[in-house]
Amino acid sequence: MQNQSIARLAIFASGTGTNAEAILRYFKDDPNVIIALILSNNPNAGVLDRAARFGVPAKVFNREQFRNSDVLGWLQKNAITHIVLAGFLWLIPGTILSAYPRRILNIHPALLPKFGGKGMYGSKVHEAVKAASETETGISIHEVNEHFDEGEILFQARCKVEPYDTPEEIAQRVHELEYKHFPRVIKEWVTKNKADR
Ligand code: GAR
Repeated sequence: MQNQSIARLAIFASGTGTNAEAILRYFKDDPNVIIALILSNNPNAGVLDRAARFGVPAKVFNREQFRNSDVLGWLQKNAITHIVLAGFLWLIPGTILSAYPRRILNIHPALLPKFGGKGMYGSKVHEAVKAASETETGISIHEVNEHFDEGEILFQARCKVEPYDTPEEIAQRVHELEYKHFPRVIKEWVTKNKADR
């Protein structure tokens, strides 16, 4: 029988995976939170190299495997208790949502509800922030539901946007907030809802 005090996390990521790496580093020596699986829809994603470097098993899947029960099967086979989306671009299917109620967390690189929704990811978000002449932006960490970027927000952090900032400079500032806060918020989140398991 599985030890109920240990959380086993799967990270879904579509790209470079610098957030995934920050999470892997943070939990490397934590006996209570195991990063057990990395999943990607992109066979060329940098996150797969990071997984290999940390010795964490990784799987790549296509749309069909995501929608049928393949990916859910891998999660269950690996006894995954929580899912973290770190730069993952597809909507989570209902089968996975119902298997992990309030157990899926996403990070979004802006202050939701602004600059969220389908097609709003990565550099597109920072370009939109710049185009709207925002004076601040930041990160939102939220639970995942059936809509893009609409689940309950658990944490936000802000940073300034200067009129002369490029989207790349905005991205860099936002990334710093992500690395600083995301692993810590994940730790609090799994610790808090451990009692419900
Ligand atoms: C991160 O900034 C994350 O917030 C964003 O993608 C980036 C991934 O970077 N996520 C979204 O835009 C989701 N809508 P990384 O691969 O280096 O961690």
